[in-house]
Amino acid sequence: MKILAIETSCDETAASVVQDGTKILSNVVASSSAMHEKYGGIVPEVAAREQLKCVIPVIIEALKPLKTGVNVSMFQCINDSIDAIAVTVGPGLIGSLLTGVETAKTIAYVTDKPIIPVNHVLAHMYANFLEPLSCHSREDGNLTSKTQIPDQVWDDKTIKFPAISLVVSGGHTELYLMKSVKELCWLGGTLDDAAGECFDKAARLLGFGNRGGVAIQETAAKFTIHNSQFTIPLPRPMLNDDSLNFSFSGLKTAILREIDKLKRNQQYNNRTIEQSSYEVQEAITDVLVEKTLRAAQKYKAKSILLSGGVAANIRLREKFFSTIKQFNNITIHVPSPELCTDNAAYIGAYAFFRGKSTDWKKITAVPDLAVEVGEA
Ligand code: KG4
Ligand code: ZN
Repeated sequence: MKILAIETSCDETAASVVQDGTKILSNVVASSSAMHEKYGGIVPEVAAREQLKCVIPVIIEALKPLKTGVNVSMFQCINDSIDAIAVTVGPGLIGSLLTGVETAKTIAYVTDKPIIPVNHVLAHMYANFLEPLSCHSREDGNLTSKTQIPDQVWDDKTIKFPAISLVVSGGHTELYLMKSVKELCWLGGTLDDAAGECFDKAARLLGFGNRGGVAIQETAAKFTIHNSQFTIPLPRPMLNDDSLNFSFSGLKTAILREIDKLKRNQQYNNRTIEQSSYEVQEAITDVLVEKTLRAAQKYKAKSILLSGGVAANIRLREKFFSTIKQFNNITIHVPSPELCTDNAAYIGAYAFFRGKSTDWKKITAVPDLAVEVGEA
């Protein structure tokens, strides 16, 4: 079964063709992130306009591997080669979501193909079921194609249930119990800010603009503990709390306080910026690893699945892989970095494994779509 998946929940316009929920035939991502740089955050109106501009070219690009001839139109190609359309309906920015939803509905209506509404946050975890092949990325107009080197090639025999799934992105930090590929139960989530938001805020405070977690990761890698003259103590919020919830807003404030202190004491320089990045990354990743492992033990999980943009973090991956050695019956699964951040391939995977086709007239964009599902 070939699904054409469309994702436009935020500042990425993405389309992908996924076969049988696992095989990526194409994966195209256009991002307007650089356009928001000067505003210090995503401007919803700008993001929505870029979505409108990019959605059709991105879909056409995603369909290219399926085209049988140069004169085959987009609708003809979908008619001939696609079995269903999947689209993100929420959560996300309303203007951005509407672009993808209305485009997908139009395609479904014209081609008479089934349409499957998808929850973006739940879909993230299905990146773990994809075989990584290649990913096309487009930053403000320039189409580039890069081949991915998979960190861990997916093998369907290695994901065993029950699994604990951590979805950790710019807007969400959620823990789920996956009893099977279809059966999900929400176990806990952040009470305030998401881990990605904390990375993003710290990056802005440290002068990295909108480059977020990637900038923190790169700068933290330059820091060596032996050279440090200062302590930059940061809390590990809710680490000793019994629940499987998280909180990152206090950590954000603590970072701000520590940076102010360094500036007041005239100790704010490249070295302390590197150390601050290192400490922020340690604090966030400590909490994510500890709480996820606690959930895995509580529910006797056989696998842990990581997903969402923050799961691309190298230090987080290292910590999970080194800590898990103590547990010889749990395996860790992490998609390649390009499949962690927003793209449409996992939207197609989710639609295949868990989606339900719905009358196109009943599909609407839902910016605050719930991410809490099932009962443990
Ligand atoms: O999943 P995603 O692409 O979009 C949302 O659904 O939110 O996640 C974006 C988030 C941003 O907060 C970004 O800073 C973070 O993922 N991120 C990272 C890394 N790459 C992306 N955080 C830490 N380390 C990274 N390497
Ligand atoms: Zn996302």
